[in-house]
Amino acid sequence: MSNNNIVWHKHNVTKKERSKIKDQKPCLLWFTGLSGSGKSTIANALEVKLNELNKHTYLLDGDNIRLGLNKGLSFSDIDRIENIRRIGEVSKLFVDAGIIVLTAFISPFRDDRNQIRDLINKGEFIEIFIDTPIEICESRDPKGLYKKARMGEIPNFTGISSPYEVPKKPEIHIKSGDTSIEGCVNEILNYLKLNNYLNE
Ligand code: ADX
Repeated sequence: MSNNNIVWHKHNVTKKERSKIKDQKPCLLWFTGLSGSGKSTIANALEVKLNELNKHTYLLDGDNIRLGLNKGLSFSDIDRIENIRRIGEVSKLFVDAGIIVLTAFISPFRDDRNQIRDLINKGEFIEIFIDTPIEICESRDPKGLYKKARMGEIPNFTGISSPYEVPKKPEIHIKSGDTSIEGCVNEILNYLKLNNYLNE
């Protein structure tokens, strides 16, 4: 429910000043892809590299956030939409704080991802599609969830009983099935360097 008695309060210290202290350009690196596609692993490895470059980062990860801030949200369409909406808002705050944010959520619905694109300033949202065929995700099955989903023990499982809508124009498209983790990280780093995200 919206409340007409709430008015946005403008703060004196801005994102620009906060980022200047850190000597960096804040942005949101939004990883999307199936469960087991490698989002968290690649985001983790990328965060290490960025940290080595003295960049101040923060990684928000689906499973971890669902154990805390978003505890209680299910995998129904409506709860996934709310999950992603909240993460979009949290990410916006982190970007405003001057941080380079990495998020690793399946985020299966195109509309939800586009809403976050609209929420974040132009040029600060970088969608990274970790494009791993479901056969590979299923053969990895690190948490044994695909097996359970196939046995009908997990309802609404993405790729099996719930849809995944492929990004149409992601900034970065990684085919992780035939690339090493290091190779994937380098592809992303190259994009960030080429597009002047890391040279401030
Ligand atoms: S999202 O669809 O709402 O973006 P999110 O990234 O937060 O999903 O959580 C996905 C993680 O939850 C998966 O990596 C997996 O470990 C776990 N999980 C549990 N149940 C499901 C399900 N029904 N579908 C997909 N992932 C699930």
